[in-house]
Amino acid sequence: MVSFALALAVFGSASAVFSASTPTDPVRLRDLVKRGGTVTGPVLPLNFPDPALILPNGQAPWYVYSTSSSHGKVPYATSHDFKTWTGVKGDALPNPGSWVSPLNPAVWAPDVRQITSTGYVMYYTAFSAANGNHCIGAATSSTPAGPFKPQADPIVCDASGGGIIDASGFEAPGGALYLLWKVDGNSKGKSTPIFIQPLGANGYTLQGKATQLITNDPVDGGIVEAQSLVYWDGFYYLFFSSNHYNTLKYDISYAISKSVTGPYTKVQAHTRHCSFQANAGPRDRKGPPSSTCWVDKYVNAVFHNDINGKNVSAGRSMWQITGLTLSNGIASVNC
Ligand SMILES: *[C@@H]1O[C@H](CO)[C@@H](O)[C@H](O)[C@H]1NC(C)=O
Repeated sequence: MVSFALALAVFGSASAVFSASTPTDPVRLRDLVKRGGTVTGPVLPLNFPDPALILPNGQAPWYVYSTSSSHGKVPYATSHDFKTWTGVKGDALPNPGSWVSPLNPAVWAPDVRQITSTGYVMYYTAFSAANGNHCIGAATSSTPAGPFKPQADPIVCDASGGGIIDASGFEAPGGALYLLWKVDGNSKGKSTPIFIQPLGANGYTLQGKATQLITNDPVDGGIVEAQSLVYWDGFYYLFFSSNHYNTLKYDISYAISKSVTGPYTKVQAHTRHCSFQANAGPRDRKGPPSSTCWVDKYVNAVFHNDINGKNVSAGRSMWQITGLTLSNGIASVNC
């Protein structure tokens, strides 16, 4: 068990960020929750794994999308205040595409990105019978609710590496679009590198070549996955989950870089499988009026947590972090 004091040291120390990856046990969600205030949940008290968050046109309502469940292929919910959520409103991807195995669609870990004022792209994992493993698909819609229309073919496959899962999109400063994904090597006893590759302006045609950003180190329990990339003020923050998702060690750390394609340095940190979306402009004042705490950027985040607190058998519900701060290469929950 990691102590609360260590959490503060990690969050508060710039040297911790820039040192080489240290093989200490990461700080757990339960330690963050004890701090109260900015981490709350479950805010969707039902099975809603791998939530992906967007704020269309920068204005409420927020949309979140989950892995397939009894609620649909890609269930979604909304919130006007980032406090109260609607419950599942519908299925944003009722048809995942003709390339997806009808017997075992396994539609997992969607991510949705707004490409234009009325153009949205969803990236999702699904099982391709023809490929014999998981691939990444893309689907488009003019509204965040969908229904998203799938492309005829998957956009990334790699059966020999163990399949490809956990796609996420990223828009760099200046507007260049990227796709990130995880090679699911742990399904074959291999490593789990996370890659990035440029996308064309349509948000789903791959261009150029893929670059590896990070892979699993011993401290990651054999797995890194479920990445979410955020840029702020000169730093790229690559949040990712490590350890096996059906163990209590599953949690979130992050790595930072000053270049989108790396090199990234892992930082020992925080929570679980989650999605981050920028929410506010620069130099926001945070905390009570008496606070002298100024932050460069705050983001809202959602993540999942086992409903029974032990394993995934009872489902995974959505929790949230309000006001995660990003400043000078450091992510912290309470500054
Ligand atoms: C999952 O947790 C439940 C509730 O504690 C328990 O009954 C069950 O045996 C656990 N399953 C596994 C595979 O550990």
